[in-house]
Amino acid sequence: MKRMQKPNEMILTAGPKISRHELAYVTDAAKNGWNFHHSDYIYKFEEAFARYVGTSYALAMPTGTSALHMGLILAGVGPGDEVLIPDFTYIACANAVQYTGARPVLVDVDRDTWSIDVRKAERYITRRTRAIMPVHLYGNVADMRGIRALAKKYKLYVIEDACEGLGCILNGKHAGVTSDTAAFSFQGAKLLAIGEGGMLITNKKSWIERARSLVDHGINPKRQFWHDEIGYMYPMSNIQAALGLARLEEIEDLIARKRQIFSWYKSRLGTIEGLSMNPERTDVRSSYWMTSIVMEKKFRLSRDELRIALKLRNIDTRPFFYPISDFGIYPKPKFNTSVSHELAYSGINLPSGVCLGEREVAYVSDSIRELLGVT
Ligand SMILES: Cc1ncc(COP(=O)(O)O)c(C=O)c1O
Repeated sequence: MKRMQKPNEMILTAGPKISRHELAYVTDAAKNGWNFHHSDYIYKFEEAFARYVGTSYALAMPTGTSALHMGLILAGVGPGDEVLIPDFTYIACANAVQYTGARPVLVDVDRDTWSIDVRKAERYITRRTRAIMPVHLYGNVADMRGIRALAKKYKLYVIEDACEGLGCILNGKHAGVTSDTAAFSFQGAKLLAIGEGGMLITNKKSWIERARSLVDHGINPKRQFWHDEIGYMYPMSNIQAALGLARLEEIEDLIARKRQIFSWYKSRLGTIEGLSMNPERTDVRSSYWMTSIVMEKKFRLSRDELRIALKLRNIDTRPFFYPISDFGIYPKPKFNTSVSHELAYSGINLPSGVCLGEREVAYVSDSIRELLGVT
C-alpha cells in the first residue's frame, strides 16, 4: 500500500456515511410526513429497531439522555434513592439520575470491560440503592452476567446505558434486551447517527404504555388533550426517524466497517508494549464504536502531547471522558476509583468514522508509532 502523505483535511474521529437511500427516506418524510402521516416513519423505525435488537417494545426519543431519564422514572427511581453508575462514563448517566431527584453513586470500572466493576459495586449497596446502570463504553461490552446476578441478589432494577452499545452482542443477545430497560443514542457521532435522537427499549408492556404517555405530557391515549399525570415533551421527529430507519437497514454493514477499522488498527498498534486497546471478551461481540488506545506512562510523549502532535498531522482524536468524580458537581465516591482515573487520563479515541479507509488507518498508526518512537 502506498504511504499516505499529510492529508489536506483533518481525519475526524467520527462522521456518518450518507447514501441515496437515506436521502430518499428523508425527502419522503419532508414531503409527505404530515397530517395523517406525521408519525409513519417513527412507527416504522420503532418497529424495525425492536425487531433488530430483539425486544418487545421500542420508543423513539429526542436523545439518549431522555431515554435514560425515562427508564429511571419507569423503574420508580426518585428522591431518597441511589443509583449505581460508573465513575468513568459520559456525564449523561449522572445527570439523568439527578433529574429524578435520586443520587448517582459513582463506582469504579474494571480493566476488562471499562465498565462498572461488579465486585466493587456491591460495597456501595445500601437500603436506598434502587438501580444499577451499566454502560457499554465506546462499544465495549459491560459484564452483564455479573450485573444481573448482583441486581437479582439485591432486587435492583437494571437501567442499561447502551447509548454507545448498538451492535454489541452478549451471549447471542443484543445489548439492552436482558435489562428492565435500556437507552440508545443516535447523536451525530454515534454508529446510527441521525443528528440527535434516542431509543428506549423494554419487554414490559405496562412500562411502554406509561412511557408512551409520559413522553407526551402524560396524555391519556383514549381521550384527546386529556392529561393523566405530569409528563415531559420527549418526542423524536418523523424526519429524524426516516433517517434512522434508513441507517438501521444498513446497520450490520456499519458494524462490519467499525470492526474492520479496529482490526486494521490492531494489526498495526496491537503489539506495542505499554499501549493497550479496547478489550473484547470471547463471549461478546463489541461494536468497536470507537477504536481506542490506552498509554502507559513510559512513552516519550504524554497522552495530551501525543494528541497535539497528531493534530499537527491533521489527525483528530478525542480524550477519554473525565471521571465524573473530578468535576466537583457530584459527591465524591466513598471508595477510590483508581481504575477510572487511570483509564480516563491515559486513553484516546482514534479516528473511527465509518468512511475511514485502510490508508488513513495506516497513516494514523504510522504517525502514532513515529511520534512515540516505536519502531
Ligand atoms: C455513554 C453515554 N451515555 C449517554 C449518552 C447520552 O446520549 P445523548 O447525547 O443522545 O443524550 C451518551 C451520548 O452522548 C453516551 O455516550
